[in-house]
Amino acid sequence: MENTGTIRLGNENFEFPIIVGTEGEKALDTRTLRAKSGCITFDEGYGNTGSCMSDITFIDGENGILRHRGYPIEQLAENSSFLETAMLVIYGELPSEENLRAFRQQVRKNSSIHTGMHSHFDGFPSGAHPMAILSSMLNSLGAYYPEMSSNDREQDLAHFDETAALLISKVRTIAAMTYRMKMGLPFVYPADKRYTGNFLHMMFSEPYNEYVDDHGAGKALDLFLMLHADHEQNCSTSTVRMVASGGANLFASVSAGVCALWGPSHGGANMAVIKMLEEIHAAGDDGSRFIEAAKKGEAKLMGFGHRVYKNYDPRAKILGKSAESILESIGMEDPLLDIARRLEQAALEDDYFISRKLYPNVDFYSGLILKAIGIPVEMFTVMFAIGRMPGWIANWKEIAENPKSRIHRPRQIYTGSTKRDYLALDQR
Ligand code: CMC
Repeated sequence: MENTGTIRLGNENFEFPIIVGTEGEKALDTRTLRAKSGCITFDEGYGNTGSCMSDITFIDGENGILRHRGYPIEQLAENSSFLETAMLVIYGELPSEENLRAFRQQVRKNSSIHTGMHSHFDGFPSGAHPMAILSSMLNSLGAYYPEMSSNDREQDLAHFDETAALLISKVRTIAAMTYRMKMGLPFVYPADKRYTGNFLHMMFSEPYNEYVDDHGAGKALDLFLMLHADHEQNCSTSTVRMVASGGANLFASVSAGVCALWGPSHGGANMAVIKMLEEIHAAGDDGSRFIEAAKKGEAKLMGFGHRVYKNYDPRAKILGKSAESILESIGMEDPLLDIARRLEQAALEDDYFISRKLYPNVDFYSGLILKAIGIPVEMFTVMFAIGRMPGWIANWKEIAENPKSRIHRPRQIYTGSTKRDYLALDQR
């Protein structure tokens, strides 16, 4: 195969190397384009732009393939756990039994947050969105660990292992505390439990009544988190890398990631799906009116479509099955699951969706699982953030450890006024 590509601008040819990834993905390396030709590439939304080289996650969107560090998501879902997958994503290898135990211990040790942070919760109105609280709290957390949030790369990296375990642990505690604060309930301190068991305990135990997980909620939640662990250069992860590229510490970078995740086109879609299914249910519709509205461009079918997947999102397949089994084990019938199945079927047979290659994505079924577990809809995107934390951390690490990494600073095409002279107030 040719290892260079040529761009012709006017009468001039410019030659550039072609970079090939380990899975055969190709990119024209245009880093010298502007210097050579005075021209830049324009790719609004970055649909054709490789922003980095990364060893973490591989997606083949045409064939619905997702692998972390080479391991297919289906195998991880079948055999691994959230914390083990987190270690794989962050450190590149499946951990030994001893290393996994040590990591679990480190996560457990970091479960509680500094009591000084309790008063931060008091400052939020009860109507505050949990994502606003989460983002602020993660950034504030850095203030309690100045040695880990120095913005001096060498120093921050020297504390990396501790910071990674701390964030994976405390993001879950902050999430549970946020829910309790909003409900006007007393905080429940972490206990000596496994990762998701501890989360459910901090969310749902009462001082007089210990939460008992007798329907496999912890297991379903673990799967949910694992399936969200990383997804290469999505909006929030790219944001984390962008912030990290300026030299910012891990706390600040993941806090920015939470903000980027919040919107309905990204992580906020899991909330929007449930709202959409509830609306369809309340209207007594079978979903066809919603599909017609989506086809006319009046609405988006939430949980459908993806920038990279032009096939079924492999995570949606796994979550669809998991939603059924958790509902079955609880003995709960959720009419929203039937609506979702009908909607999916109708969309998959409709030419509008077929021709645009729009398939269910990770958010289509995930909300049904969270709802079955008892997580309120407002907290759904926070749950996504807990799951995505390992991916954000791993991507921050790639930037911080790369001595050649440059600040991310795209260019633009200016379309505003050309030069004009300042007018005094009385002349305007
Ligand atoms: N419902 C109806 N039409 C859609 C949808 C949808 N969900 N998604 C895309 N389209 C149409 C879009 O209108 C466009 O049509 P046309 O060619 O006639 O103009 C065509 O499909 C191509 O879409 P696009 O807007 O160019 O796609 P994109 O890559 O810019 O956007 C997306 C991807 C995920 C933002 C979009 O599909 C969407 O808004 N989906 C609904 C929200 C959602 O489920 N988001 C979660 C994404 S996956 C997890 C995550 O990242 O958090």
